[in-house]
Order: sequence, then structure tokens, then C-alpha cells
Amino acid sequence: MRKLEDRRSSQWPQININDERFLNFCSNDYLGMSSNQRVLDRVGRELKTFGFGSAGAALLTGRCTLHSELEVKLATYTGQESALLFSSGYLANLGAICSLVGKKDWVFHDRLNHASLIDAVLMTGSRHRRYPHLMVPSNTSPMDKKSYLITESVFSMDGDKICLNSLGKYCVENNSTLYIDDAHGFGVLGEGQGVAFELKKLSGECPEILIMITLGKALGSSGGVVLGPKRIIDFLTQNSRPFIYDTAPPTSGSRRGLRGLVYFARVARSSN
Ligand SMILES: Cc1ncc(COP(=O)(O)O)c(C=O)c1O
Repeated sequence: MRKLEDRRSSQWPQININDERFLNFCSNDYLGMSSNQRVLDRVGRELKTFGFGSAGAALLTGRCTLHSELEVKLATYTGQESALLFSSGYLANLGAICSLVGKKDWVFHDRLNHASLIDAVLMTGSRHRRYPHLMVPSNTSPMDKKSYLITESVFSMDGDKICLNSLGKYCVENNSTLYIDDAHGFGVLGEGQGVAFELKKLSGECPEILIMITLGKALGSSGGVVLGPKRIIDFLTQNSRPFIYDTAPPTSGSRRGLRGLVYFARVARSSN
């Protein structure tokens, strides 16, 4: 049976559970951003200006300048045209996939994809095939159908990584949209940009590439962001139900975390 344990401390690097202290290897906060003093100071100042909760859906009054600045910074940092912030990575996956994939489309997805990707694909009602972990799909969709290849970049349970070139080649040959959940790659791969760092190495032009990153891992905050062509991001803004009918994420934290991440990436690079 699953059991809830309440901690009595921050997550990093030690954790207090039932008054016992443990060195924490379970947290997603790889870089300690959630308790970084500069992040906390900045959040304190932002709370005074904007309040704690966003207190509204993004399309009403929930959105503030910090949200849009974060989207712009993330798009620039990863070299993507545009970005849209959701209140979690789970919702970002549901929000993007369920809005884009239609019942008549085909989806090919890795057998070990995260539950949010599996749920999203099932909710679309599309034709779908799960291919063996880290392989390239052996099937293709009928010529007249739109198709999607959906995968994580670094897999959450096993920590192994896709071969982007092979999957990219498949998408070029089959005119498929490539959707990459980079929850565990962002902040870790490349110089911190995650899988986006490797996209430029793809041979051939993928028809469309979308990336989803979570703010709850290397950025030590919470939220999910879908990055890609402006045309698609604009479409999601108009049509994605988990974006439209959801209270916008709290205002502070993530933007400062991003600055910290860039700093960490630079330090890591200079010490290599
Ligand atoms: C690969 C992957 N995608 C999506 C999610 C969901 O992200 P979030 O925790 O921000 O809802 C997770 C996290 O737990 C994940 O590991």
C-alpha cells in the first residue's frame, strides 16, 4: 500500500522525516534550486509585489509579467520560437497532446514513457502503437494520416537516453511530428538546455518538433512548459483545455531558478 510521509525540512541535501535525518537521493531538485538562498530572497521580493497565488486563469487575470518573461527566457534559452506555461508537467503533456492529436491521427510512443504521456495518448482516442524502449518504431502510419512520435529524452525510471538522430530520421522519413518530454534532460543535457541543445545536430528537417520541460526538476520549482513553433503555441493558447480552464501557476520562483540554472551550467562547463 502507498504511504504518505511528511517531511519537516527542505529537500536538499538532507531531509528530515519523523525526526530522522537522511541524505536525500530521491528529490527531483537536482541542483538544490528549491532552497537556494538567492532564489528564496528573490521569491520573497516577488511575493510582496505579486502576492502568493496567481488567483486566476491565465486568460483572465492570473497571468503576470513574470509568467511571460519566463516563457520568453525559456524559448530563448532553448532556441525555440515560442513557449506556453502550464501549472504542471503532467498538465502540459495532457494539454499539448490532447489538443494536437486527433482521433484519425497515429501515435508511436516509447513503451516506458511517463504516465502523463500514456494518459494523454489514450485520451486522444487516436490509433497508437507502443514501440520497444529506446528503439525506432517498426511501423509507419498510412500515407494520408498525420502521425506523431512521442518520447521522453532521458527516461525517468532508468535514466537512459534516446538516440535523437535515429528518431529524428524516422520523423523526417515519415513526416511525423516529434514530441519530446525533456523533464529529466532540461538542466542536465548539453549546456543545461536539455535535448534542445542536440536538435541542431539532427540530420534533415523534422516536420515539427515540440519539447515539454518541467520546472519541478532541475529548476526546483513547479510547472510545465511546452516549447515549439509559434503557430502551434498560439494554437495551444486558444485550444488547450488544461491551459484555459486552470488557475495559472504561482508567480515566483521559476524565473530566478532559470537564472541559477544558467549559472550552474556555466560552472559545470568550466570545471570539465
Ligand atoms: C518524464 C516526466 N514527464 C512529466 C512529468 C510530470 O511533471 P510534473 O511533476 O511537473 O507534473 C514527470 C514527473 O514527474 C516526468 O518524470
